Amino acid sequence: MILHVFESEGSLACAAAVIFAAQILRKPDSVIGLATGSTPLGTYGELVRLYEEGVLDFSRVTSFNLDEYVGLPKSHPESYYAFMHRNLFDRINIRDTHLPDGQAEDLTGECRKYDEAIRKAGGVDLQLLGIGSNGHIGFNEPSDRFVYGTNVINLTESTISANRRFFDSADEVPRRAVSMGIGTIMSARSILLLAMGAQKADAIKAMMEDEVDPRIPASILRTHPSVTVLLDKAAAGGLSL
Ligand code: GLP
Repeated sequence: MILHVFESEGSLACAAAVIFAAQILRKPDSVIGLATGSTPLGTYGELVRLYEEGVLDFSRVTSFNLDEYVGLPKSHPESYYAFMHRNLFDRINIRDTHLPDGQAEDLTGECRKYDEAIRKAGGVDLQLLGIGSNGHIGFNEPSDRFVYGTNVINLTESTISANRRFFDSADEVPRRAVSMGIGTIMSARSILLLAMGAQKADAIKAMMEDEVDPRIPASILRTHPSVTVLLDKAAAGGLSL
């Protein structure tokens, strides 16, 4: 793992965008894996700026998002579909974007189709990840085993309460999600994980310094040959390295 710790969220976002920019400049038809949550917002802002300034052309880029809530219509402002369009897709010239369909009648079939679409596109070149404060990546929650492919996940109480801030009432927060599995994420050729804030410090420490353990899903990343981790000082606060 390559680790960089930044003084500010702005410089972290800039560094993440530079890594994506290098990927797209080197391979204009890159397949990129994208994430939601507050963590990548600065990075998306920088990518929009690089597009507006004529540095980046996304017209041949394909994207696959990590996950989507089950049961939330695309039109709901907190669906990951709406999030991605608002914060990135509608602001750049990307055309080929994919998210799991959390409203599919056959969710198991949808999971299989999603993995198949990633395979057909040639696999993900660069996957962006945030991390949950319980160590989850995508929506792969702590468990007694690593789940391989895209799958339907029952969200833990800690994730439901972390997501509560985006919804009007607790009842509205989705309880399930479709997420790329750990195997899907691990098959990306390179991975870029971002974390900011003291609430991520324990998860980051466990990911980087404890045993590889499905109870900290992000710990599997230690076995991947090409992972870059960008942190702010608060998220790096627990590291003894
Ligand atoms: C959700 C997403 C994850 C994200 C996590 C952290 O669970 N499925 O992909 O990493 O939230 O979100 P935030 O960046 O807002 O802390």
